[in-house]
Amino acid sequence: MSDFSAVELITGKRDGAALSDEAIAWVLEAYQRDDVAEEQMSALLMAIYFRGLSPRELTGWTDRMIASGERLDLRGLSRPTVDKHSTGGVGDKISLILAPLVAACGAAVPQLSGRGLGHTGGTLDKLESIPGWRASLSNDEIRAQLEDVGAVICAAGAGLAPVDRRLYALRDVTGTVASIPLISSSIMSKKIAEGTSALVLDVKFGSGAFISERDRAEELARTMVGLGLAHGVKTVAHLTPMATPLGRAVGNAIEVTESVEVLRGGGPSDVRELTLNLATLMLELVGLDVDPATKLDDGSAYEVYRRMIEAQGGDPDATLAEAPLRHVVEAPRAGYVERVDALAVGVAAWRLGAGRARKEDDVSASAGVMVLVREGALVEAGQPVFELLAEDQSHLERGLEALTDSLLIGDDEPRFPASPGENVIRG
Ligand code: URA
Repeated sequence: MSDFSAVELITGKRDGAALSDEAIAWVLEAYQRDDVAEEQMSALLMAIYFRGLSPRELTGWTDRMIASGERLDLRGLSRPTVDKHSTGGVGDKISLILAPLVAACGAAVPQLSGRGLGHTGGTLDKLESIPGWRASLSNDEIRAQLEDVGAVICAAGAGLAPVDRRLYALRDVTGTVASIPLISSSIMSKKIAEGTSALVLDVKFGSGAFISERDRAEELARTMVGLGLAHGVKTVAHLTPMATPLGRAVGNAIEVTESVEVLRGGGPSDVRELTLNLATLMLELVGLDVDPATKLDDGSAYEVYRRMIEAQGGDPDATLAEAPLRHVVEAPRAGYVERVDALAVGVAAWRLGAGRARKEDDVSASAGVMVLVREGALVEAGQPVFELLAEDQSHLERGLEALTDSLLIGDDEPRFPASPGENVIRG
C-alpha cells in the first residue's frame, strides 16, 4: 500500500486518469493518518471537482469512506428499517413528522442527523427546542428505541464515516463542495454506515436548496441512488422543488409546533402532502401495504411522536420558548403574491438567530419567520405577510433586512408551471 505517491495521484487525476481501488484506499487512509497533507488532499479534491469520478471510482471512494469508521448493524430488529435523507430546504421539518409516521405504519426509522449550517435548518436544532430532549444516544440506545418505539432521530455519532468530517471541512474552505461525486459519497457513506436497509432521498432544487437547477438535482439523485444500490441499500429519490418555503414556520420551536399540527391531522397542506409522498415511497421499499394518511388522521403517528420524544428525555407537552420580540411585515400593495422566495426567508430566519454561521455557534429556539401568505394568494395593501420572531433588536433588524426582496406582488393571477417530468428516481 505504500507504492503510491500523493503527487502522482493528483497529477494523474488532474490529467484525466482514473484512480485505482488501491490508490483510493491508500490516499484516504494516508490522509486519515496525516501522511497525506491537507494541501495535497485539497489539490486532489479540486482535480476530482473538475474531472469527476467514474462509477467505479465513486463506489471505491464511498467504500473507503465507510470503511474509515464503524458500520451500525441493525439486522435482527423485528421491523424492517428504512430512513429518509433530505438535502436540506427552508422550513423542511418533514423528518419530525415522517419518522414517527412511518414507524406507526410498522417500519423502524433510524434517522441519524446533523445540525444545520447556513440558511437551511437542522433537524436536531429543531428538536432541541423541546425541554429535556437529548440528541446524543449510544448505539445500544438507538437499537433499543428502534425496537420499542420504531423511530429515533438523533445525532450521527463521530464514528460514522469519520474521514467525511475532515473532507467536508476541507471542501468547505477550498471551493470543492459543489461536486456531485463528492456530495454523493459524503451523504451516502454516512447513510450506508448507519445500517438502514432502505433509504428515500429527498433531493431539493430551487433558490432555497443548495442546488438550484432541476437537471443537476436529478444527476445528484441518480448518482446517490446508484451508490445506495451498489452497497445493498434499497434506494429511491424524490425530486422536490424548493423555490418557496415549506409550510408556514421557518425556525426551530415554531417548526416543532407546525409538525405537531400535521401529526394531529392538520397543518399546512404542502407539508402534509410531501410527508405522505415520502412515507409512501418508504413503505413501498420495505413492502408494507399501509395508507400513511390514516395514521396521521387517527392519531397513531402523533402517539409514536410523543413516545419518541419521551424516550429521549423530552416532554412533548412542554411549552416551547417564545420570542420576546415580534414584528409584522405588511404587504406594500394589493395584488397577487407571485413569489415568496425560499432563500430570502431562510437567510432571514438564520439572521434572526434560528441558524448558525459556524458549527460552534448556538441557535435560538424561539427565533424565526412565520410566512403568512402563500404564492398565488390575493392580498390587500397592509395585510400581514410575515411575522418575524427574535430575541433582541439587533437580530430583528438583520432578519428584516434579509427579507427586503423576498416577496413579489403583481397584478395578474400567477400561473405556476407543472413540475416537469417524473419526480421519483428509481435505480
Ligand atoms: N451534505 C453532506 O453531508 N455532504 C455534502 O457534501 C453536502 C451536503
